[in-house]
Amino acid sequence: MDMQPTKPAILVSRRVFPEVLERLRQHFEVDDNQADGILGVAGLQARLAGKSGALTAATDPVTAEVITAAPQLKAICNFAVGYNNIDLAACTRAGVMATNTPGVLDDTTADLAWALLMATARRLPAAERWLRNGEWKGWEFIQWLGTDVHHATLGILGMGRIGQAVARRALGFDMQVIYHNRTRLPAEQEAACRARFVDKDALLRESDFLILLLPYSPATHHSIGAAELALMKPTAHLINVARGGIVDDEALISALRQRRLSGAGLDVFEGEPAFNPAFLELDNVALTPHIGSSSRATRMAMAMRAADNLIAALSGQRPPDLLNPEVLR
Ligand code: 8YV
Repeated sequence: MDMQPTKPAILVSRRVFPEVLERLRQHFEVDDNQADGILGVAGLQARLAGKSGALTAATDPVTAEVITAAPQLKAICNFAVGYNNIDLAACTRAGVMATNTPGVLDDTTADLAWALLMATARRLPAAERWLRNGEWKGWEFIQWLGTDVHHATLGILGMGRIGQAVARRALGFDMQVIYHNRTRLPAEQEAACRARFVDKDALLRESDFLILLLPYSPATHHSIGAAELALMKPTAHLINVARGGIVDDEALISALRQRRLSGAGLDVFEGEPAFNPAFLELDNVALTPHIGSSSRATRMAMAMRAADNLIAALSGQRPPDLLNPEVLR
C-alpha cells in the first residue's frame, strides 16, 4: 500500500485568499474558516484541538487558556505586524513559536496614515457629506477652510519601520519632521528620514500633525490621554493607525468637541469593531475601519509571509519572524 506521510493539521482562523490556502494545503491538512465567523477563546480552543499550528489574525485572542488547551501546538503565526492579541509569555512557557509579519505592510500603512492626515487637514469627510446632502448652494470665498499640510511640523510617536516610511513621505510636503521613540534612531536612519528626535512633551507641543505608530501593550495603554492632549496645539490634528487603546477615546472626543484639538484621523478604536458613538457626531474627524494594511497586494503578502513562517516552524526550521526565540533554546 502506498502510505503517504500524514501532514500536520493546522487552522487558518479567518478568511484568506484561495491562493494562500492552496499553498498551505501542499504542506498541511488545513482547517479553514472561509465563513469568517470570529472564533473567540472557546472557538479557538475547539478548533485548535489536534492542530500543530495556526495562522491567526489580530482579532483572535490567543490567550494562555487557548494555548494550554492545545498541547500539541507548535506555532502561532499572526498575519499582522501587531501581536498584542497573543499572550507571548504563555506561548514561550508552552514551547509554542509565535510570529508576526513585519516589513511587508510598512508602505501601505504609511500611505493610509497620510490619507487620514490629508483628509482631516482638508476636512474631506465633512465636505463630502455636505456635498452629497445637496447643501452646496454656491461657491464662497470663505468656505470649508482647512489646515495647510505643506511646511507644517509632522510629529511621529513610535519610530519603527512604519514611522520611518511616514517620515520619508513628508519630504515632498516640505515639512519639519520630529519624532519620539523609546530608543533614538542611529544617526544615518534619522538622516534618511530627515527626522529630529525630541522628548515626548516637545513632540506634543510642537506637532501640527501627530501620527501614532506605537505597538499596543499595557505600557502604551492611553499614551495619549487628557494630559497629553492638553499639551497639543488647538490647531493640531491627531492620527492613529496603530491600535485602539493607545489613545483614551473619551478624552479625545472631549478635546475634539471643545475644539481644543482641530481634528483627528482614526483607523483604530478602543473596543473595535464597536467604538464610541460620539465620534459619529463630530464633523472634525476622518474615520476608517482598521484598513491600514488593506491593499490586495499587501494583504496577500502578509498572509503569504505568515504561511512562510508556519511552513518553516513546522518543518524544523527557524521561522523568519520568530518573536520568542527563547523557545528554540
Ligand atoms: C492587520 C494590523 O491587517 O498588522 C497589523 O498589526 O493592524 C493590520 O495590518 C489587522 O490587525 C488584522 O490582522
